[in-house]
Amino acid sequence: MMSAIEKKVLSKIKPTPDEKRRMESFKEELMKVAEKVSKRYGAKPIFTGSTGRNTWLRNSHDIDLFLVLPRNLPREKLEEYGLKMGRQIAKEMHAKCQIKYAEHPYTRILKKGFDVDIVPCYSMKPEQKIKSAVDRSPLHARYLKKTLPEELKDDVRLLKAFAKGIGIYGSDTKTEGLSGYLCELLIVRYGGFREALKEIAKWKPQVYIDLEGYWERRPSFKEPLVVVDPVDSNRNVAAALSTKNFVKLIESAKEYLNSPSIRFFFPRKMPMSYIFFNRLLKRKTVMVALVFKRPDVIDDVLYPQLRRAAKRLRGLMQDEEFRPINEVVWANGKAILFFELEEDRLPNIRKRIGPPVKIINRSQEFLKKYKKYKPRIENGRWVVEVPRKYKTIESLLRDFISHSVKKMMDLGIPNYIAPKLKRAQLLKGRQLWSFIKENSDFSIVLKDLYK
Ligand code: CTP
Ligand code: MG
Repeated sequence: MMSAIEKKVLSKIKPTPDEKRRMESFKEELMKVAEKVSKRYGAKPIFTGSTGRNTWLRNSHDIDLFLVLPRNLPREKLEEYGLKMGRQIAKEMHAKCQIKYAEHPYTRILKKGFDVDIVPCYSMKPEQKIKSAVDRSPLHARYLKKTLPEELKDDVRLLKAFAKGIGIYGSDTKTEGLSGYLCELLIVRYGGFREALKEIAKWKPQVYIDLEGYWERRPSFKEPLVVVDPVDSNRNVAAALSTKNFVKLIESAKEYLNSPSIRFFFPRKMPMSYIFFNRLLKRKTVMVALVFKRPDVIDDVLYPQLRRAAKRLRGLMQDEEFRPINEVVWANGKAILFFELEEDRLPNIRKRIGPPVKIINRSQEFLKKYKKYKPRIENGRWVVEVPRKYKTIESLLRDFISHSVKKMMDLGIPNYIAPKLKRAQLLKGRQLWSFIKENSDFSIVLKDLYK
């Protein structure tokens, strides 16, 4: 049963009848052309993705048209035929076309507000090995045709919109959330939107879903959610979902079931106000950030690198006793690594704890190294106070980014980040306001941390 709230949400996210009619007639026209063109190359066209199975959301007009080619076709031919077919389909549709590059090139055509990807792939049967990265998609389409009944498609839409609303829709590396296909499989498994949320609310890692019962014993996937792909038992459909977002999904499901609201689907996204920023300052923690020019790479490459860089810097801050407690990475034209710390300035000395006095050889080493600082004994161990290298967070960060690019990379900063980090600007406390004010999307991400 759908609640009033869910009906209201659907009325906003479900394609309108007119929109659906336009989609259907455009797809029909496209399929006629695709069939004709494909024949010349021994290919079979099939619609995949959400517009192929009527689980798409209003105003998203991406059509995936796959051209399935025989498995024994050489790789160069797959690419050549794929592009030729794409071009011919575009021509017969009187549409503009462009070539896009993923694992292999494909064609995109734009017409009447539709955005069609024409993707060649190899034919495969369930459990066969993939030969190109996208070969499973036609099987996904066929699998869901069998298992996802018409009356559950609105439930899929609700789950997608719910995931979108809480910020975890998409299996790209920036989002690290749920793919559309995963939402569809969860609805198949649990039989409805509310039913799925009820089960999700009970999840504890590791959650394991094997719709087709492929495995007798649980295979060793390491991710918190494992959904065995019904067409390929060695693939986890939920591999992209981060632990953080796994938890966010569970907590949001619990909250929604306790007090359902349309706000889960359509959150108010207000940029951070100056008042809010001042409340942050009143925490009396230390907010510090490195801001630099965005390297010229796509989000999917950039975000894992930003996260790795932040992790390295956090480790460094921890080692130097600045006690980091929060971090955010973000990029559009600029990139930012933001940290919140407990300590800002530290004493001139630093206490180092040495080995137990009973362990003679290690004690000797320790004493030799720190002799001039006069070690003493505390609770049966050697301790010593030494002059501290970094007394302020600024000195630590400035020193770090003054390293050569090569040195930074040796220290674990990824290749696209290191050269930009070298020219980073350091912002602290109140200085962050102008960046926050000018980058409202970042301010929304940051605000989310303190709700
Ligand atoms: N796909 C996949 N795994 C992913 C992403 C995509 O297997 N992590 C495949 C699925 O077969 C999916 C198809 O690629 O159906 C198209 O992907 P996409 O357009 O990203 O998702 P849709 O399912 O079309 O969902 P929507 O467009 O509504 O977000
Ligand atoms: Mg799609």
